[in-house]
Amino acid sequence: MQLPQLFDRLWNDYIKQNPAVRKVYDLLISEGETIVNDHIAFRTFDDDRVNIEVLSKAFIKAGYLHVSSYEFEEKHLFARHFEHPCQKDAPRVFISQLKTKDFSPFLQQTITETIDKLSEEILNSPEIIFSRNSWGKPSYDTYMQLLTESEYAAWVYVFGFRANHFTVSLNSLKKYQDIRDLNKFLQQNSFIINDAGGEVKGTPEELLEQSSIRSGVITVEFIEGNYEIPSCYYEFAKRYPDKNGRLYSGFIAKSADKIFESTNFYNQ
Ligand code: NI
Repeated sequence: MQLPQLFDRLWNDYIKQNPAVRKVYDLLISEGETIVNDHIAFRTFDDDRVNIEVLSKAFIKAGYLHVSSYEFEEKHLFARHFEHPCQKDAPRVFISQLKTKDFSPFLQQTITETIDKLSEEILNSPEIIFSRNSWGKPSYDTYMQLLTESEYAAWVYVFGFRANHFTVSLNSLKKYQDIRDLNKFLQQNSFIINDAGGEVKGTPEELLEQSSIRSGVITVEFIEGNYEIPSCYYEFAKRYPDKNGRLYSGFIAKSADKIFESTNFYNQ
């Protein structure tokens, strides 16, 4: 699959599920901006059948290379980021996996049983990144119980394999080069900025500033009935050049730790 096609497919699924993202996107376009994606992110588990190695297959096939690895101790995550060596505007791909062994036997068993339900066809195909939740209708009780241990695990249990977020590159914007201006603009248009750890994560000295809107709340069909829960979010990133004049391309663990909380429950 060609790269633009691959990202279009992920994007179309992502905006269908998250009308707020589409609104932000359209709002920026109406301001005369061109949107370039800084990165997109996936969430998964450390189970060998669906881990980072498995989810990255489609990107590796499309020419992506592994660039860096990250540990998120507080959230019990391990992550890798991938880049395309030649296509400059191709988004970075960030894939994290939950260290399930750090959690209760309940969580471990639930995740194992969930993955057991996946067909061999999905498990062996690079198309797994488009497969969303293909293990069937989730249980609200299980979701709530997972939430008490890991919001991340609960999110993947319900939404499965899909883009968790896309990220607008501020470096490619004209009017909103300053992340604080962009946040203010979005707030004026009634979007809620995730303020866990402050509205802006990171500093120019750290070479990366990030912010995000809170995930939209959507109705999900559970075994027990319909419930409203947070889905995906939209992120914004501004990168700064390092001392050699090269734009910083990595990620900052302590900032991402808080960005992960964009999918937390909140009072609307
Ligand atoms: Ni991100």
